Amino acid sequence: MKIDFANLSHQYQLYKKEIDDSIQSVLNKSNYIMGEEVGLLEEQLQDFTGAKYSVTCSNGTDALLLAMMAMDIQPGDEIITTPFTFIATAETISFLRAKPVFVDIDASSFNIDSRKIEAAITEKTKAIMPVSLYGQPADMDEINAIAKKFKLKVIIDGAQAFGATYKGKQEVHHCDIYTTSFFPAKPLGCYGDGGAVFTNNDEYAEKMRMMRVHGQNKRYHHKYIGMGGRLDTIQAAVLLAKLPHYGKEIGSRQRVAEQYTASLNHFVQVPGVDTERSSVWAQYTLRVQDRDKLQARLKQAGIPTAVHYPMPLHLQECFTYLGLSPGSFPVAEQAAREVMSLPMNPYLTEKEINYVIESIVENYQPLNTGEKV
Ligand SMILES: Cc1ncc(COP(=O)(O)O)c(C=O)c1O
Repeated sequence: MKIDFANLSHQYQLYKKEIDDSIQSVLNKSNYIMGEEVGLLEEQLQDFTGAKYSVTCSNGTDALLLAMMAMDIQPGDEIITTPFTFIATAETISFLRAKPVFVDIDASSFNIDSRKIEAAITEKTKAIMPVSLYGQPADMDEINAIAKKFKLKVIIDGAQAFGATYKGKQEVHHCDIYTTSFFPAKPLGCYGDGGAVFTNNDEYAEKMRMMRVHGQNKRYHHKYIGMGGRLDTIQAAVLLAKLPHYGKEIGSRQRVAEQYTASLNHFVQVPGVDTERSSVWAQYTLRVQDRDKLQARLKQAGIPTAVHYPMPLHLQECFTYLGLSPGSFPVAEQAAREVMSLPMNPYLTEKEINYVIESIVENYQPLNTGEKV
């Protein structure tokens, strides 16, 4: 058997007619830049999230830049974030010549450890940027309480978590600005690069809307230093066709995750989701001690796996200038050695899920009795 990790080709076949028609209508109109589909998508994203504003943009990286630029983050400002995330989270902070200040993660959620944030705050701290890693929100009540106490802004990097909820509400309602990515392999992906920012704040929305089009408020009149950060109309058309199916797809991801967890939790450390949060399962990520060996065996069995992420950000060459070293964030460093993501997509069949489970379980003894691989 050969298992597909994200199975985007199956998804395309499922919604082919809607997607083709939607793209074709853009081609017919040739409205490739800021066509009406972009505005239509923003309205539908607002309906989906309950956000007052959604502003689509070129990708999830630019979404982070737009959020920080709207908050007027300046060189030397400090932003507190997690070292266990995709590079874009901290790279964008440095790109603006601000400083990413890392705080170690919680061992079970893999998200920033809210109990360690206060100790990292200085007079230069301007914002906290939690990441909803693998699709699950961070400790938003605790983070917002700290932000309120120290008058800081909160940006959620929700690139992996569009549609996830915290205490029954979408994440945009738990921060000043929420950003996401529509990279093809994300839970809601387009067919190229795409992203969006969400906010309930009038001023931020207006600024980000201008900033994604070179800061212009009127054609060739530029109020702010901005960027070329628009979402292509064709990508908006793809998302318009896919969004109506997204709620159902989140449900299917949840089904896959529950089945994995029910069978694997006796053998390996499975991901935990807090009872008051929901994950959209961008990744289903285990902790295993002998990762290389297990990955090789699964590969032989036709099961692809991935490591998100093998090296925490404070140890990346580009962040040498921060002066951090191995041991600075031990929980993140251990996670980087142990995490392994399994195939996750809404179309995995019972047979495929069972095959993945059996292929893992045969390498292990039940957790309380025995040895790992
Ligand atoms: C946590 C996180 N932040 C930011 C990004 C950047 O998104 P994009 O690839 O759309 O620029 C990603 C995407 O991989 C991500 O996982």
